[in-house]
Amino acid sequence: MIRFEIIGTGGYVPKKILTNADLEKMVDTSDEWITTRTGIKERHIAREDEATSDMVIKAAEEAINEAKIDREEIDIVIVATVTPDTAFPSASCWVQKGLGIKNIPVFDISAACTGFLYGLIIGGSLIQAGTARTVLVAGSETLTKITDWKDRGTCVLFGDGAGAAILRKTERDAGLLGYTWHADGSLGHLLSLPAGGSRLPASETTVKEGLHFLKMQGNEVFKYAVRYMGESAVNAIKKAGITSEDIKLFIPHQANIRIIQSTCERAGIPMEKTYITIDRYGNMSAATIPVSFRDALREKLIKRDDIVLFSAFGAGFTWASLVLKY
Ligand code: ACO
Repeated sequence: MIRFEIIGTGGYVPKKILTNADLEKMVDTSDEWITTRTGIKERHIAREDEATSDMVIKAAEEAINEAKIDREEIDIVIVATVTPDTAFPSASCWVQKGLGIKNIPVFDISAACTGFLYGLIIGGSLIQAGTARTVLVAGSETLTKITDWKDRGTCVLFGDGAGAAILRKTERDAGLLGYTWHADGSLGHLLSLPAGGSRLPASETTVKEGLHFLKMQGNEVFKYAVRYMGESAVNAIKKAGITSEDIKLFIPHQANIRIIQSTCERAGIPMEKTYITIDRYGNMSAATIPVSFRDALREKLIKRDDIVLFSAFGAGFTWASLVLKY
């Protein structure tokens, strides 16, 4: 068990909402197709001048207020994102600057939709090891800034947002009861941002060819997501030494309602125990789980000592499932 307590959570989504009806005017699609194939009805879109760290700062401030701590008590900041403000400084450095906290280590995690779960494992482990007492873990994305608005196969799927949690050392019987985390880089080509890195630096040609936009072979990704989220959820439950009946709430990554339904079937979790936000947010990658967790807590669906299951799958490929005792 990795012992820690979550003492505060926060979330932020930009004001601007893009509905399926709006998308019908932009590409050859329909509300009916998007709703039945994905479960998405609307998503939030960051302003032109709004970056990934701006959203983390808002989510983190809510979490700090809820935790009733001074921000100086934070020992480490971890930001999970694949859409940082800049390649460097890291998004976490931008966040540190925005929060005005000095003299602590901060770093980013690049694990796409699985990033926040990687962050909980790493943040919790740092507390367990005695390296930190209080860790801020955030997931934030501005995927709509790397979206090709002419590609109907991807542009209907994504939304922007940020979520944060404050982890603290505790003597309580709380934290991660069990988890599995994985990656398979050999499948990376199925979901990637081809240009802008050292393999293919940004140039006039890469922009002309649209290689600075996210590319995805959706139906291939779908097959792996269904298989790996299901398998890892079952294994995390086993490792935690519990049964699926012990789970109060399942908060999966939300890329597609059909992936979630299939994961629930494989893991033996009824949809009634599964928290769904995809209709209102779309896929916010690393932000989906922390924002959904915050919303579920605000709806009082989880109380202290309840067991929550998280499961995610994303680019890399990366995937993970965690059993948390809140
Ligand atoms: N509107 C209307 N028709 C569409 C749209 C659209 N927006 N998009 C695709 N279609 C069409 C296709 O052109 C195709 O038409 P055809 O049969 O005439 O060729 C048809 O619909 C079926 O296309 P598929 O791609 O096979 O559709 P599928 O049922 O697989 O749904 C989707 C596509 C929603 C992308 C699905 O594959 C999916 O959810 N994939 C997984 C996404 C995911 O989990 N990503 C990982 C996380 S993201 C991250 O890490 C950043």
